[in-house]
Order: sequence, then C-alpha cells, then structure tokens
Amino acid sequence: MDFYSIRGGNPLSGEVEIAGAKNAALPILAASIMTNETVTVENVPDVSDIRAILSAIEHIGAIVERVDRHTYRINGSQIKDEPVDDEAVKKIRGSYYLIGSLLGKYKRAEVTLPKGCDIGLRPIDQHVKGFRALGAQIRIEHGMIVAQAKDLSGSHVYLDVVSVGATINIMMAASMARGMTIIENAAKEPHVVDLANFLNSMGAQIKGAGTDIIRVRGVQRLHSTEYSIIPDQIEAGTYMFAAAATHGDVTIHNVIPKHLESLTAKLEEIGCEVETSDDAVRVVANRRLQSTHVKTLPYPGFPTDMQPQITVVLGLSEGTSIITESIFESRFKYVDELIRMGAQIKVEGNTAIVSGVREYTGTSIVAPDLRAGAALVIASLAAEGYSEVHDIKYIQRGYEDFPEKLRALGADIRILDSDDPEVKSRSQIHLVS
Ligand code: UD1
Repeated sequence: MDFYSIRGGNPLSGEVEIAGAKNAALPILAASIMTNETVTVENVPDVSDIRAILSAIEHIGAIVERVDRHTYRINGSQIKDEPVDDEAVKKIRGSYYLIGSLLGKYKRAEVTLPKGCDIGLRPIDQHVKGFRALGAQIRIEHGMIVAQAKDLSGSHVYLDVVSVGATINIMMAASMARGMTIIENAAKEPHVVDLANFLNSMGAQIKGAGTDIIRVRGVQRLHSTEYSIIPDQIEAGTYMFAAAATHGDVTIHNVIPKHLESLTAKLEEIGCEVETSDDAVRVVANRRLQSTHVKTLPYPGFPTDMQPQITVVLGLSEGTSIITESIFESRFKYVDELIRMGAQIKVEGNTAIVSGVREYTGTSIVAPDLRAGAALVIASLAAEGYSEVHDIKYIQRGYEDFPEKLRALGADIRILDSDDPEVKSRSQIHLVS
C-alpha cells in the first residue's frame, strides 16, 4: 500500500501551478452528457474522483475521448437507460450529479446513493425536495436513487440549508424542464457559478448564479460547447496554508484571487504577507504566526474544505484559537492524529480549541479523508523529523501531483510502498531514530 514518507522542516519556497477545480469538474462532466452534440472540457484535473465520474458516464454509453491530460471530448448521444452503479462511482459524492443531468435530459435516472468523504451525516433531502418540486417521483431502492418524471416543469424551490450539491443538481434538472425554476437560498460557491456558465454556454438560460436566488428558464435542448474549468480554490488554499505552516515563500499560479479572499484575510490576520496579482497569489510567512478564531460558512465565508488546513497552522501559532465547524458535524477526526504529533487541541462538539505549540514532531499517521489528509501532510512538512502519512488514496481523490508539486517547492516527500520489505524495515528505523 502506498504512503507518503516525509521528512519535515524544509520551508516551502518557489512556484506552483494550480489544477482545475475538482468540485466544478464533477458536475460539469456529469452535465456534459445533457446534449447529443460533442462537448470539449479543458482544465480537467487528473485526480481519482474525476476518473471515477468519467468511467461512470462511459459505462452508461458516453463516448469519452482524452485529448490530452486535462482535456476531454465527450459525446452523450448514445446514453443507455441503465443504472449508474459501477464500483468507482459508488465511492464519490459527485456521482449524485448524474441524477440531475439524466433526469433533466431523459426524465429518468437511477444512480447509486453517494458516499464521499466520511465527515458526518450527508443527507440528500434537499436534492430530493428540488426534484420533487420539478415533478419527479423519487424512490430509494436497493441503495439506488430512482428518479423519474413524465414531464419536468419549472417550480419554486426554497432550500432549507445552503447546499452546494442540491443547488447544482436542481439547476441541472431545471435547465431542461418546462418553464421557470427559482432556487432560493442557493449556494454561491465558485463551482456553482462555473456549472451555470458551462450550462449557459450549451444554451441553458440560468441567471443569478453566485447570488442566493438562481433563476433557470428551461430549454428543450442543449448544444455543443468548449469550456475551461476554473482553478481549484481548495488546492490553491492548501498550498497557501502549507507555505504558512512551513514558514515559506510560495507563489501560487493559475488562481482566481477573488475566490481566495476568506483565506487571504485569515492568513494576513495571523501574520503572513499575502501579495495578490491578476492570477497569482504569493504567501510569505517569515515570523511566528498568531492565533485567531475561524468559523466555517458557505461561500463567501471560510470554506469547510479548508478547516483542517487552517487548524494545522493555528496549532503552530502563538496563543489560543477557536475553530467552529458549522457545515459538517464530524470534521475533526484528524485532530487525534495531530495530537499524536504534539498539537494541543481539545474538541468539544463542533468546536476545536487550539493552544499553539512551537513545533510538531513527526510520526506515523493516517489520513481520515481528503482535506484532512492534505492537512496532515502539511503538518508533517512542518514537523521536526520523519512522518509517514497512510491511506493516501483519499488525498489522491482531489490533489493532482501532490508530492511532485510539494517536492518542486523543496519538500522532502516521497511515495513508498508499505508492502516492500526494504521500505518496511527502513521506515521502522526512521521512526525509532
Ligand atoms: C460539497 C463539496 C464538499 C464541500 C461542501 C461544502 C463536492 C463534490 N463536494 O459537498 O467538498 O465540503 O460542498 O462546501 O462538491 N445538507 C442537507 N441536505 C441536503 C444536502 C446537504 O442537510 O440535501 C447539509 C449537509 O449535511 C451539510 C450542508 O447541508 O451540513 C452543506 O452540504 P452541501 O453543500 O450539500 O455539501 P456537498 O454538496 O455534499
């Protein structure tokens, strides 16, 4: 089994290029089959969640042509009326976007219930409420969601919670419903806007994406397009906080600085210098950082997907910080691992109270999910000594070339195979020393 072997202590320094946004690519690829014409999607990140959604659409009959590492041509004219439940797609959250896209186009969808990262209860009641409002009947049978409608017609949907997934799914189905749908209390995340822009480039009529009221006038058919996905806000943020944790100086290219404002504000507050240009951001941390308080919120608030990374940094900052997780109920699972590295953190419900320590010390740790896994890598890069990060499959779901990019910034990180006998004995020696 592969794991990361990390010798910490090197300040990260240099330049890094950010890939396309995974959480935009998932719905965009799901929506690409909503037309019978060929769609070209660029800036698709090369990560395992994306390979899973591509394999899912291929399984049901889409023709997927890989033009280059980040560009795909997709044709959905031969989609079969088959359940979407191949093994890869079962593991990803984004699989449920195929309900919205298939229901919109064919008025019928049968898709496996999504799993995704284990960060607490992840209900889909708001998705279901939206589909029902459009006139679909929804059943859950044998682990599958079955959605069907004689006809979809526009409706008024008020979301009880701000949900990225529900907003996106309803927007997709409504794009091909009859008449006008109004989604109120909609999510405003950059990837919601990116999907709306993508659908509009295919002929959809969506207005207001990026605000909390989205209006979708349904159209009968969508057409071909060429579209480039926005940069990954969370990947960029991860490198920003890696620079901070290691007292580095990193320039992060191919970003939309506006999407990073909540992160930039927190980094400046704790004592980093952040320079922003048109499509890059530079983070310099040249002194001991200070504590602060953070609460995760829907966009434009501080993203829950950056909560573990900021906690790692605050764990090394002077003073006491309070981190409140308001989106997912159990997103502090990684804290036990961080404590084993020397962090002083107490979790009470959805709050973590962090007393900053001067340094972490390396050890063997396990990634509990995607973003927490990345955060533990950051902790290991900042730590004194040697660490092993296991279960990196989670990290590979969402970070393209993570060890390679970190190495280019001066990190000492390698991928090793724990089944290799030589590696086994060597890693034990390191851990003892
Ligand atoms: C997406 C992202 C995930 C990110 C999250 C919040 C993808 C593939 N995943 O997840 O990385 O952490 O947004 O920015 O894009 N909820 C309900 N009922 C629903 C749907 C959601 O109660 O039907 C609740 C959830 O339990 C959670 C909150 O709403 O407390 C937000 O969830 P949501 O925005 O839907 O997250 P995801 O789309 O699953």
